[in-house]
Amino acid sequence: MVSQMKVAVIEGDGIGHEVIPPAVDVLKAVGLDFNNVPVEVGYGKWERTGHAIDDSDLAVMRDCDCILFGAITTPNDPNYQSVLLRIRRELDLYANVRPFRSLNIPVDTPYVAREPFDFIIVRENTEGLYGSKEEIGKDRATSTRIITLKGSERIALTACKLAKERDNRLTIVHKANVLKSCGFFREVCIDVARENGVRYNEMLVDAMAYDLILAPQKYDVLVTPNLFGDILSDVSAALVGSLGLCPSANIGDTYALFEPVHGSAPDIAGKGIANPLAAILSAKMLLEWAGEREKANLIQRAVDHVLEKGIKTADLGGQASTQNVSDAVIAYIRGIKRL
Ligand code: NAI
Ligand code: MG
Repeated sequence: MVSQMKVAVIEGDGIGHEVIPPAVDVLKAVGLDFNNVPVEVGYGKWERTGHAIDDSDLAVMRDCDCILFGAITTPNDPNYQSVLLRIRRELDLYANVRPFRSLNIPVDTPYVAREPFDFIIVRENTEGLYGSKEEIGKDRATSTRIITLKGSERIALTACKLAKERDNRLTIVHKANVLKSCGFFREVCIDVARENGVRYNEMLVDAMAYDLILAPQKYDVLVTPNLFGDILSDVSAALVGSLGLCPSANIGDTYALFEPVHGSAPDIAGKGIANPLAAILSAKMLLEWAGEREKANLIQRAVDHVLEKGIKTADLGGQASTQNVSDAVIAYIRGIKRL
């Protein structure tokens, strides 16, 4: 980018306050020249002011190039509006891109895939069952699933572009044997894959969940409607070993938001033990989006190095604090830059 980038920085709630500052420090350490624009939204703000997000917050975000986002606590209150859903919808961030890569190091977590794997889930982010077309009556409730041509085409195209930069293999995940809206999504994805010369196969979502656990190494890029993508992402985070390692991007045509897959983790918030690597790898995705490949690669190398050295937070069976891990990542980056 030619002019200085403007990044809206939203820590949010809970461990968002602990993992986003290290991610910002890492962006500075790799030498990104950017203007850091803090924006307060979320549950904490809602408790104080009665609003989780204001129109003026969205105006500040729109004036930036992109957003670095921590996590937001969602209270069990029907009057609370989801901040993230509103941002995704208003800024039309239709593609949720979630890369999952196995680690090369032993980790002490309940479950980790045996074979090395490296795949990306591309989840439609603005429609499907999360399109907010819902009604609750006395004796029944309905949620309408909307799948459009425009929504399916653009998500399929995003997935195809990613596949072409990788192994050129696309898996279309749906439930077309039961849901007609999935049949529609499937056909659009197949058309887009053919037009773009991308090799594809298809999987029913239930079989996909099973096979991701048994053989994640088989997959390259998955494309799927909103709800399925949400669920498969958490399955995939377990394969990696921790939610604390999984970054994501929400991408639109001209704007993007980068955030760890995890939430605000109230059970560990304030203890200084949250794993900052998901947030740091989200900053890496921001750099890739901005065309800063070298800086992005440097972050990945720093993260790999720190894990290989065994500097791990408790979610990976280690004893390092959030600060220890961030310091080690930054020390590696500074060391390389001095060479
Ligand atoms: P969560 O992702 O916050 O936590 C799930 C489990 O993973 C917890 O045991 C937590 O301690 C652990 N964990 C998560 N991130 C970690 C990290 N970086 N390092 C170490 N351990 C980590 O999901 P949960 O508990 O279901 O939700 C908590 C709150 O976060 C809820 O209010 C939920 O609505 C919200 N949430 C927000 C999201 C967002 O803003 N994008 C996404 C998911 C949940
Ligand atoms: Mg989720």
